[in-house]
Amino acid sequence: MKILVLVSGGDAPGINKFLFELNNAFKDCFAVVGGFRGLIDNNIVPLSSFNPKIYQNEAGAIIKSSRCPEFKEEKYFKKALANAKKFDCLVILGGNGSAKGAKELQDNGMRTIFVPCTIDNDVDGSDYSIGYHSAVMACNFVIENIMPSMEAFNRCCVFEVMGRKCDAIAKAVANMADVDYLIANEVDLDYKKIVKVIKDKYKKGHASSIVLRENITNIQTLCQKLEEESKVTVKYNVIGHIQRGFKPTKLELKNAKAFAVNAIKAIKNSEESHAVLMKKGKIVIEKL
Ligand code: F6P
Repeated sequence: MKILVLVSGGDAPGINKFLFELNNAFKDCFAVVGGFRGLIDNNIVPLSSFNPKIYQNEAGAIIKSSRCPEFKEEKYFKKALANAKKFDCLVILGGNGSAKGAKELQDNGMRTIFVPCTIDNDVDGSDYSIGYHSAVMACNFVIENIMPSMEAFNRCCVFEVMGRKCDAIAKAVANMADVDYLIANEVDLDYKKIVKVIKDKYKKGHASSIVLRENITNIQTLCQKLEEESKVTVKYNVIGHIQRGFKPTKLELKNAKAFAVNAIKAIKNSEESHAVLMKKGKIVIEKL
């Protein structure tokens, strides 16, 4: 059986573990280099050529990823489909957009297996997507290692976390790092409330911390306003791509392996297309 695998959208810690397991399970395992873009261009090489064994515990995506809006255009979709059809099964790791791509390919006769893989943890039907735990731990690491400096001056620091439109990372980090205020959506942007939190902590002789989910407001403007109104120094830190490049946590590696084991099972035990999802802590295999 000839297996093809691709990674689409934002890379996520744990991908390389998944690839390592997949490569071990099949004799003929190939990788698309650079997601759907690579599939259109027929950029396909043996997965083993990327040395998955060496990189299994590292972040990133050894086979490269891409964002490829052209995939939705018929002309390019047909090219991608024709290239995929040279294989028996295509495994797609990505978020909701990639799930749609997987379904589209399946509806056009390509057997596909979809695996949720995005730090945002916003994949429909799955409680978990590969990368999420490491991203949360990366944010916690940054906050833990910046706040002692803030504390030395009783300053406030606003930390912007990723997540696109999803508040999963923001909520988990706010809880884990025990921050003073969370701006997870537009409603939370209550200046009066936030200023009070900053001032109260300052009066008690302490720093304050705020987590801001990305795509809500401009962090620099927000901090200027908070500083003006509270009269407390407000610093900011956009946590950024350390969330994607962070070394996968032990739990991440365990989850990525579990997703891989079940994807392999789905490939071997049936001839249909599936999504491998996590529900209530258990991996389930559902029809795509
Ligand atoms: O989807 C993952 C993600 O990291 C989002 O949280 C973020 O908004 C986006 O990707 C950033 O993408 P890029 O690295 O392409 O700028």
